[in-house]
Amino acid sequence: MKSMTTWGSQRLLNLTSFREIEEVLRRGTEFLLAGTRPESGEFFHGTLVAIDGREHLDRRRALSRMLGPRQPWGPEGRLFDETFERNMARVRSNANDDIVRFDLIDFARRVNWQTTAVLIGLDGVEDDQQVTRFQELAMPLIGGLTVEHLSGDHAAMVADARRAMSEVRESMFQPSFERRKSLVRVAKGGSQGENGLIADLITSLIAASIAEPDVDLVFRECLALLAASVNNPVWQIAFAVDDLLDWLDRHPEDGARTQEKTFLNGAVKETLRLHRSARPYLVRRAVADVVLQSTGRTVKSGTWLALWLGQANQDPTVFGQDAHLYNPHRALADPTVQSFGIAFGGGPHACMGRPMLVWEQGAEDAQGTLTKMLRKLLSNGIRRDPDAKYELRGEEGGRRFMRYDILMPARGR
Ligand code: HEM
Repeated sequence: MKSMTTWGSQRLLNLTSFREIEEVLRRGTEFLLAGTRPESGEFFHGTLVAIDGREHLDRRRALSRMLGPRQPWGPEGRLFDETFERNMARVRSNANDDIVRFDLIDFARRVNWQTTAVLIGLDGVEDDQQVTRFQELAMPLIGGLTVEHLSGDHAAMVADARRAMSEVRESMFQPSFERRKSLVRVAKGGSQGENGLIADLITSLIAASIAEPDVDLVFRECLALLAASVNNPVWQIAFAVDDLLDWLDRHPEDGARTQEKTFLNGAVKETLRLHRSARPYLVRRAVADVVLQSTGRTVKSGTWLALWLGQANQDPTVFGQDAHLYNPHRALADPTVQSFGIAFGGGPHACMGRPMLVWEQGAEDAQGTLTKMLRKLLSNGIRRDPDAKYELRGEEGGRRFMRYDILMPARGR
């Protein structure tokens, strides 16, 4: 890899080693995120992913209840299970022979968009038609939110995103926001306070406002969460299925463990470590001269950095000589390193979705959504379609399946 990456008008210094990237992410007061999204800044400014320091910490605190395990979308909640079952029933009802065929990407996307709408607090995304409409409305918006990482006509993408933004705001966000404002007002006057309310993003931000909530900021925060959460889990689940089906072909003895939380968590974490499906690198800006303790490298103030998570997560000095291979039983020598590496970033901006996706604590059925999805798909008897083509698309370090064909016995119809 060359030492520099070009990104818009910036030249970025490439970092690929696990230890250096982990350190840069951890040292969040010297390496900032703010200001690193010049083109999508109009959609993101002032949000969690565009601020640092005290303000950022306070915003994360305001959202912490949103990630409690008992929330409907959390590992002890039932929202994901119900949404999965509803979508599975739909797929099965479309089958007209003994084998059910479906595209896992479309399936996972529908499940994920429905649960994300509830997590954000957008009403009226419950049935299949409403999900389709939500996707159609919000897809161009996601393009605008990630424009720095896309090739093509950026000005046109931003213009499409602006149009989608005003439609989403008017038809979906505004009524949901007003409803929650009254719910919070009533709850604050009651004996339980806002603790009795569901802690979706909109409700949490309204409840945390001392004066009148800043509706523009709450809306932008919804967009930021949407961009962070709708695509990544979909691409990861296709990789998780692909990796595990391969592994089970070669290790049939693990077939008996495909409903076990510990085994499936190990499988999901190994997939997260091995596959980076979103933008291939994170960006940071040094705001002081820094000497990295991990390697002694000097980084001058004003340097922009590209942090290549995928390469770091296959660093053999941390994950072993077979770091590039999938092994759901992988044990690491260093107890301070997570088995998914830095797939969820690290430091102050580490992924807030992690406890929803992978969950170690609690009862056997308290599971993150990636683990639940994998378990439920396997219990339905899924397998790959021998006639299908499985192709990865995207740039180096950020590849994904755009379609993933699945076969499944039509039992239980
Ligand atoms: C497999 C799926 C996911 C992966 C691999 C992933 C990965 C990441 C990474 C690497 C970051 C750090 C970005 C940076 O430092 O520049 C991040 C941030 C974030 N993620 Fe995720 N994410 C996933 C799903 C989700 C979900 C489902 C949510 C919903 C709650 C979510 C919410 C966030 C938020 C809010 C941030 C920004 C945190 C901050 O800036 O303080 N993510 N994610």
